[in-house]
Amino acid sequence: MPKWHIASMDEYKSLHKRSIDDPEGFWSEIAKELHWFTPWTKVLDWNPPDAKWFVGGTTNACYNCVDRQVEADHGDETAILWEGEPIDADSGPEIRCLSYADLQHETSKFANALKVLGVKKGDIVTIYMGMVPELAIAMLACARIGAAHSIIFGGFSSQAIIDRVQDAKSKTIITCDGSWRRGSIVPLKANVDAACDQLEGTPEAVEHVVVVKRCENDITMYPRDEWYHDLVAEAPTDCPCEPMDAEDMLFLLYTSGSTGKPKGILHTTGGYMVYTYFTAKNVFNLIPDADPDQKQVYWCTADIGWVTGHSYIIYGLLPNRVPTLMYEGAPNHPGPDRFWDIVERHKVTQFYTAPTAIRAFMKWGDQHPKAHDLSSLKVLGTVGEPINPEAWMWYHRVIGGERCPIVDTWWQTETGGQMISPLPGCTPTKPGSCTLPLFGVDAAILDENGNEQPANTGGLLAIRKPWPGMLRGIYGDRQRFIDTYWSAFKVDDQQLQEGELSSPQRNCPSPYYLAGDSSRRDEDGYFWIMGRIDDVINVSGHRLGTMEVESALVAHESVVEAAVVGMPHEIKGTGIAAFVTLAPTHTPADKAATDALKQTLRAHVGNEIGAIAKPDMIRFTDALPKTRSGKIMRRLLRAVAAGETDTNQDTTTLEDFSVLAKLTESEGG
Ligand code: WT7
Repeated sequence: MPKWHIASMDEYKSLHKRSIDDPEGFWSEIAKELHWFTPWTKVLDWNPPDAKWFVGGTTNACYNCVDRQVEADHGDETAILWEGEPIDADSGPEIRCLSYADLQHETSKFANALKVLGVKKGDIVTIYMGMVPELAIAMLACARIGAAHSIIFGGFSSQAIIDRVQDAKSKTIITCDGSWRRGSIVPLKANVDAACDQLEGTPEAVEHVVVVKRCENDITMYPRDEWYHDLVAEAPTDCPCEPMDAEDMLFLLYTSGSTGKPKGILHTTGGYMVYTYFTAKNVFNLIPDADPDQKQVYWCTADIGWVTGHSYIIYGLLPNRVPTLMYEGAPNHPGPDRFWDIVERHKVTQFYTAPTAIRAFMKWGDQHPKAHDLSSLKVLGTVGEPINPEAWMWYHRVIGGERCPIVDTWWQTETGGQMISPLPGCTPTKPGSCTLPLFGVDAAILDENGNEQPANTGGLLAIRKPWPGMLRGIYGDRQRFIDTYWSAFKVDDQQLQEGELSSPQRNCPSPYYLAGDSSRRDEDGYFWIMGRIDDVINVSGHRLGTMEVESALVAHESVVEAAVVGMPHEIKGTGIAAFVTLAPTHTPADKAATDALKQTLRAHVGNEIGAIAKPDMIRFTDALPKTRSGKIMRRLLRAVAAGETDTNQDTTTLEDFSVLAKLTESEGG
């Protein structure tokens, strides 16, 4: 019988109650498990929508991940267990094992190298790398000297780099020559070059690019470029961790919203660190000193370029002193059993992945996991999108051997850490539900006036109390922060007229955080996430703004107008459907030309944003269905994309009925 941190529902309920009744007492006890240079004077300062946690305290995230373990005599233990994608016929995959002492050594040297390049506390460093150990080293080195990082997923295009570097005014980029993906090389450095060339001569010109050699692909080194390995070779090994104010920025992470422009979600140091540490510990039941035959090896399959990787490969994991496995490549390289091969060889105990991956594994067939010994697994997790009950059952049966609890974790880039999730060994699960709120989380389903909905009634998913891991803002856009997350409910006119609300509050009528998801709670209080309420779609567990894809499409010379909606997709959960009106000069003459243009547009979107944004279906149409005021009727388009030809949707506000008829008649593609 494994030992569980939270072993019964009674324990969960009483701890949860305490965390809600006395959040300050609760979180200060947890925070004391970590290292602080100077203690805080106040646990929480809440002035909606602004929260400050551990006010006056100073700490360092790298210290808590790395140095603290070395100080406590655990320097020799494995911190990061890394496996590369390529498999050598003779020697097998490349494996690197970094201890806490190694990480201390490497982060110190690279931090010193960054200082030589002029990087200082408060600067924002852009990171665009593959899943190599140097990525972890780079982010921790930034944290070490108090520079914030802005990590861009390696699957994004050079245009995405331009947008983010401009917004963050970041002067330094860390990248790799290339990264391995399903046996081929993603040209990371070339993408960075293209972005830097565009920015050259503008106020946002990039000053330094540091390049890690990984794939040894041909690249061009420019005067702004430096080899990582040369910088580090010359760097001194001593670099103390900078004491950071609890509310100093730790990182920015750009994510999609309902406009065409991604927003830089801002996370700070102290609260984020405490929150990710504590949720990781309980949700994955992390135990550093487990019995020798039960030694834990934790593996999250996400890319560090997403928040899941930030929080549950690095920042939440390392302070828990359980080895965190990092895998470089694709799940089906060289074969569809690669993940299970890794689980077997490294005796993985906790495994955290996305429903979209689980659906792909189901499709590839049971024989692949069945060919491996998966008996080391103890806890399974999912994240990123609702998991359909069939996929849940398959995960439970085929991967978990009907023995492992599944934690379906609901959270967001903005929440920093997991918010609603079962606790393994404790919470009875229901396939498809993320179950109950974690500690300190006051989650509720509200109607448009902010009133709580009765059981089994859909509404807005809201968090009614601040929590330590919450976002502190959208970088450089205060108004968007307020409008997006804090403004759904009506302002009390009376209060406004009487001048009772001060001006920032006037723009922030509700002290509740609105997640942008709709959800319901069942009769047991369990949460069932229903989907996004904004123009954001969740493709393979990754958030995309429909406007982003639309802007990319209309940037192509052949496109006059485009509307993008989500559609059901067997593997991705939600696929991308694009309805496009073409310039008369570009109308294709025949079927072959139509198909060719669709391919061109898919490739174009791939270049503008990244492969994940390529539409799964494109339909050319004479016009888009619009209301009299000119709004595109997405509701109708969604129905059309879902293949409902005989739609019984209300069409009374349609400007041109013939448009709908044409859309439903034309065949998909
Ligand atoms: C959106 C956040 C959290 C890291 C990965 C995605 C959806 C996330 C679940 C879940 C149902 C989920 C929500 C949320 N989502 N987890 N367990 N069940 N939906 O982070 O890109 O910030 O996206 O993903 O819609 O709002 P993200």
